[in-house]
This record gives sequence, C-alpha cells and structure tokens, in this order.
Amino acid sequence: MTTLWHGRFKGGPAEALQALNDSISFDIRMYKEDIEGSRAHVRMLERVGLISESDREKILDALDQTEKEIDEEKFVFESSDEDIHTAVERRVTEIAGDAGARLHTGRSRNDQVATDLRLWVKREMKEISGLVLDFQETLLTHAKQSKDSYLPGYTHMQQAQPVLLSHHLLAHGWALSRDLDRLFEALTRADISPLGAGALAGSSLPLDPDGVAEDLGFSHRFNNSLDAVSDRDFVVDALYALALLGVHLSRIGEELILWSSTEFGFVELDDAFSTGSSMLPQKKNPDIAELARGKAGRLIGHLSGLLATLKGLPLAYNKDLQEDKEPLFDACDTVRLLLLALNGMVDTMKFNSEVMKQHADNPNSAAIDLAEYLVAKGIPFREAHAIVGSHVAASIEEGTDLADIVSSDERLGPEAAALLAPGAAVNRRTSPGGAGPEAVKVQIKEFQIQLDSQRERLKSDI
Ligand code: ARG
Repeated sequence: MTTLWHGRFKGGPAEALQALNDSISFDIRMYKEDIEGSRAHVRMLERVGLISESDREKILDALDQTEKEIDEEKFVFESSDEDIHTAVERRVTEIAGDAGARLHTGRSRNDQVATDLRLWVKREMKEISGLVLDFQETLLTHAKQSKDSYLPGYTHMQQAQPVLLSHHLLAHGWALSRDLDRLFEALTRADISPLGAGALAGSSLPLDPDGVAEDLGFSHRFNNSLDAVSDRDFVVDALYALALLGVHLSRIGEELILWSSTEFGFVELDDAFSTGSSMLPQKKNPDIAELARGKAGRLIGHLSGLLATLKGLPLAYNKDLQEDKEPLFDACDTVRLLLLALNGMVDTMKFNSEVMKQHADNPNSAAIDLAEYLVAKGIPFREAHAIVGSHVAASIEEGTDLADIVSSDERLGPEAAALLAPGAAVNRRTSPGGAGPEAVKVQIKEFQIQLDSQRERLKSDI
C-alpha cells in the first residue's frame, strides 16, 4: 500500500493504526467541499505561475470526473484512501498523471481540511436556518389561526394566569428567532478561508490566499497560519448554536408531551406524526416530542465533547482535531430531522380550544385582577394581595364561588366579581408584550417583520 508519506517510511501502516486513523468513512461527506477547494487551489496555482494552463485544465477535468464518480457511487476506494483529501488527490493523479501530481503544491491536508469544514459549516448553517424559518412560519400560522383561544399560563407548573394561545406559541417563535441569529453568527465565524496556511507556517511559494478566499466565496482569508490550521472554534460555535436550538426544541417537545396527555387534552396529534403501542391498543404516543427532548442531551454532549477535545491542544495541527467532524455531522443531522418532524407534528396537530378554555377559566387565575382592582382604588398592593388571598382560601375551604365572596365584600363588590367572568382576565393583559389580544396583535406584526428580515438575510449572501 502506498501512503502519502511512503518516501520517508520503510514499510506500510499496521492494520490497527489504519483502523483508528482513517477518517474516510465519515469525511467522505465533505467530498464536494474538498473538490471545490481543490479547484480554487489549482486555479490559483496557475494564476501565480506555479503550474501551466494545460496542467490546470487537466486537473480540473480530473476533479470533475472524480466528483462525478463519487456522485454516481462509482468511485473505487482503495485501502490507502485514509481520508477524503487523500482519496481525491489519489484519483486525480491516476486520471491526470503528472499534472495531478502537482495538485498538492503549496498545500497541506491541514489547511485543506479546515477549508473543507468551514465550507461545510457555512452551507449547513444556511440550510438549517431555512428549516428553522419554516418551523417559525408554522408557529405563526397557528398563532394567527388561533384568534382569541386562550389557555392557562403556568409558573411552577401551577396555573397562574390565562394567556392567549398565540402568545404562548410565539414565545417559542421568539426563542427560535434568537437561535437563527446564533446560526447566522456561526456561519459568519466559519466564513474565513484557511487555504494557503500550508501545514502550519505558510509557504516559500508565491501563493495567493486572498485570491483563493475570494474564489471560494469566503469573506476573508486567515491572518495567522498557525491559527488557521489549528483552530476549531468555528465548529464549537456551530455546535453551541445547534445545542441551544436543541434545548429549545426539547422544551417545545416537553410541552407537547404534556398537552397531548389525557390529563391535559389540549392538543390532538395527527396519526402521521404519532406512534402506537405494540401492546396497548388505545395508545397514541408523542414520540417525536420525546425524541426532541431526548436528543437535546446528545447535542449538548457534542458541544461539551469537542470543547474537551480542544482544551489541551498545543499549536498547531494535532490529529485530535479529526474528532471535530463526527459530532458536527451528527449534530446537524439530528437537528435537521428534529426540525422537519416537529414542524410536521405541530403543523398537523389540532388544538382543543374548549378544553384549554375550561382550565383557563378557573376564577382563581384571575385573582391578580382583583388585587389590581383594589390597587386602582388606592389600596396598597400588599394589602390587596392579602385580601384577595384570604377570599381564595375561603372559597377553596368552604367550596363557595369566589365570585359570590367577592360580590359580598364591599371593597370589591359585583363590579370586581365581573372580572372573574370567563375570558375577562386574558382580555385585560393589555401591557406591551403581554398575553392579551391587543398586545398580541402588535406582537404578531413584530414577529412577522422579524421573520421576513431573517428570511431576507438568509437569501442575501451572508
Ligand atoms: N483526516 C484529517 C482530519 O480530519 C485531515 C488532516 C490530516 N493532517 C495530517 N497532518 N495528518 O483532521
């Protein structure tokens, strides 16, 4: 077997070394980026006079053929194809002969792999952002359609105050919009070309890293060759954005699990987005939501795992860095699947507005309105809180209607008791950003504007 370093070595690699060292099984996923990087590199080599025009054309043709072979799954891998960079160069050299042997001029796999991975992160962050936007759109559509439906809002998982369903749904929408900002940020941080850094120190050849960066659509080239080949903080940034997005999806999942339970009965899941039980015929399970909750753990693990891998590494490239790709690929795959499945689940589920309303109309959830009624009459809030609290306690102990107790208290009376009427409390949440219809109307507009501008940003060449 011929290795890339055969000139210096007497024998081939041990099987165990190869099994541990090879990354082709997973970095094959970057073949498009690897070939794209090689095209830019070879064009640069010709521009600066390091190879002839005819060699450039031969290499570019060989790269096209290699890409086609991999596309069509006709590429024949060899045991010496340690990673995607080795495999592509080996094939190009087979096809283009001497010209192919010039491809690696002024380049190392160290700057090559960093380039490939940065291109990969840029594309992936864009595509995942598109899926987040689609999910936000679904939440917004439900928010608009839910009109004046309301449900109990909770703190400590205890009923607190009624909120519009649209308000609740958009709470998740806003969290996702911050996730989008983080995905964009990860994209921006990946947007620096390391090609031209060589193994670690640049080159004695007249390379043009700026030209290559431009050719590959990067905003900038690296400033420091050591940093360029040894830094993977752009991967950490992506993993962080994905882990936090995963945490948000997990929280949505957790609520859907509760809401679809018999005890809550707030939503009914579509058959296509729920599962049955192998034993219990009546079951309809929210597996997607549970997996959203479960997979957040794995996304957090990928982030902390890579941080741990990086923490002790001296400059510059160390093979430990090969551990950057699997967590990244898996995190992207996981988040994509989750977004698609959750989007479908939320899109198709039915809200039981009547059930939500029944729970939200518990008069105790309007207790704060009674206290605020007293505040408006000049009673200090602490005192008002105690008065209403004692009425709530009495109604629970005696099993009497809170409204009756309130009516017969002269400080409150029938006018205050009317605040306990079904639907009254939610309508009174008028403060900006609040849970009532007036404030939510404004919020829906704000959310739409935010969504449109993030969609525009994604379309533009960030
Ligand atoms: N497969 C390697 C990786 O993923 C590519 C870089 C190898 N460089 C080296 N000097 N051995 O990191």
